[in-house]
Amino acid sequence: MSDATVIPVPAHYLAAGTRNTADEYATRYAESIANPDAFWAKEAQVVDWMKPFTQVKDVSFNPEDLRIKWFADGELNVAANCLDRQLAKRGDKTAIIWEGDDPRESRHITYRELHAEVCKFANVLTAKGVKKGDRVTIYMPMIPEAAVAMLACTRIGAPHSVVFGGFSPDSLAGRIEDCGSTVVITADEGLRGSKAVPLKANVDNAIRTPAGSGVTTVIVVRRTGGSVNWDNKRDFWYHDLMTGASADHAAVAMNAEDPLFILYTSGSTGKPKGVLHTTGGYLVYVTSTFANMFDLREDDVFWCTADVGWVTGHSYLLYGPLANGATTVMFEGVPQYPDWSRIGKVVDKHHVSILYTAPTAIRALMREGDGPTLESSRKSLRLLGSVGEPINPEAWNWYHRVVGDSRCPIIDTWWQTETGGVLITPLPGAVDMKPGSASRPYFGIKPAILDNDGSLMKGVCEGNLVITDSWPGQMRSIYGDHKRFAETYFNVFPGVYTTGDGARRDADDYYWITGRVDDVLNVSGHRMGTAEVESALVSHVAVAEAAVVGFPHDIKGQGIFAYVTLQEGHEPSEELRKALVIHVRAEIGPIAAPDQIQWAPGLPKTRSGKIMRRILRKIAANEFDGLGDTSTLADPSVVDSLVQGRRAEA
Ligand code: WT7
Repeated sequence: MSDATVIPVPAHYLAAGTRNTADEYATRYAESIANPDAFWAKEAQVVDWMKPFTQVKDVSFNPEDLRIKWFADGELNVAANCLDRQLAKRGDKTAIIWEGDDPRESRHITYRELHAEVCKFANVLTAKGVKKGDRVTIYMPMIPEAAVAMLACTRIGAPHSVVFGGFSPDSLAGRIEDCGSTVVITADEGLRGSKAVPLKANVDNAIRTPAGSGVTTVIVVRRTGGSVNWDNKRDFWYHDLMTGASADHAAVAMNAEDPLFILYTSGSTGKPKGVLHTTGGYLVYVTSTFANMFDLREDDVFWCTADVGWVTGHSYLLYGPLANGATTVMFEGVPQYPDWSRIGKVVDKHHVSILYTAPTAIRALMREGDGPTLESSRKSLRLLGSVGEPINPEAWNWYHRVVGDSRCPIIDTWWQTETGGVLITPLPGAVDMKPGSASRPYFGIKPAILDNDGSLMKGVCEGNLVITDSWPGQMRSIYGDHKRFAETYFNVFPGVYTTGDGARRDADDYYWITGRVDDVLNVSGHRMGTAEVESALVSHVAVAEAAVVGFPHDIKGQGIFAYVTLQEGHEPSEELRKALVIHVRAEIGPIAAPDQIQWAPGLPKTRSGKIMRRILRKIAANEFDGLGDTSTLADPSVVDSLVQGRRAEA
């Protein structure tokens, strides 16, 4: 990767005036680092407080005495910030533009309408016995009611746990059990690319498992009208409950450190972690970053293509935009339906000015050639964003030239579920772009690069990316497992937050994210733990052992490669290969389906039994040279047989 390509923010863009000039960014960044308390005390005024805070920051990254608190004695409500406070000035402004799976279907919902709907649903939840602090699981398609459900939870102080609609009943059940929720909000079916997704049936199946058995109430939005099974004691139609519900509701004053939501994400070991975010710091951080990184203007139409089941959907489809009084587009469908011209056509139809999407979508669109994209004018666009995985310069350049007509700046935004909001991004107007680099830190963010021994690296270097001080949007704990929180993020390199990513810093102090340094895969921008896929595989009767690694994939960024050792009495076959893929889909969900399965008579292990993933990654990538020293393996001949097997397949 060359550091040489620098693409300055175009003059026409600067001429329109930006929120941050290069000088302002430099000054404010320096201030935010020199005096974080003063900086964030001021920046926290981007939200309305019911009770002002008197303390700003109370943080210790010492793993023995881990403490992360922001604005700790302040009180506020997220829904009141997203809705009530917008009414005076923006009551009739469109809050959500909903674009259906079917291109003929769309709806505009004003701030006033959304406010009324959320108040009603808050009353419904209260009537169903949901109290402040109770966890509510949301398993929904991309329909406005998903936003209503999330906002209603925040209004009454019930932390939500949104589970992506692509997860299996078992994955859903595990998440329900982990956070102990008794209420699930869902829909009869979702609709993606004209195919129905059986959400209610999945919920029924989840509740049938021991893990899901604690659920007492299921609220179902009618989306498709498809037939569903019904339990009269447990299941309620959303529209029945909403009929007659009052639209009067006073938002509950929440302490800044009260839990706001839990969002499950994959780690390198064990089951998914319930990332816990709290109210005040999270809202301040997403409100602030959203406005600055998208250089927000009052008449913007903002489209984030992420699902609300991921953190991007939380922070930058819903909370960031609404807290800023912006218009946000919610898209139910997929980019390839009815065909690949859809993204551009949605941009034209709704006059989208900012498009925020993932490299995997950009690469898939690029593969179709320029044609489908050029069916739209995209003249409303002024700014583009990328999120979720490293964007290769080729995809960056195509996004810039074709989607953005060489006119729109691109922000490559690096962050994580854990960080709540973006930590590294070029602010448009303030930071010149380098294709493939997330570039410079946001206000208050102190990145550093450590070598594997934990020593601080200076100047131009490459190593482990860590953050040395807290920011308001940082996760506060792993739900129910604070010890694991400390161990995962603060023990690897004591005293700093370990991101799990590698990064390079160039001579201009730009950061280039090189990808995960742990056993976490990034498949189409979705995080997947190798351990999770392995445990799904070994739960199949035919499988004795499995090892999963990532391999380079043109569209997905990384694909899932599984080495599988069979039990005695089972023989490799195409049928079994298919059966294993179906099994993993059923256990976790389609996003975890292995792209390739290689039969492995044995796995390369050290004498102490540790699987040498480094070697497996190389073989999966068809890199047979330089497999490194295999002499420490318990049985070095295993490697030769795997290489032969791979060569035979390729
Ligand atoms: C991991 C976090 C953050 C929202 C979506 C994913 C990778 C994310 C970038 C980027 C390079 C990126 C990292 C990170 N990642 N954005 N702009 N450039 N890598 O959230 O599921 O928590 O995944 O995604 O590896 O650690 P997530």
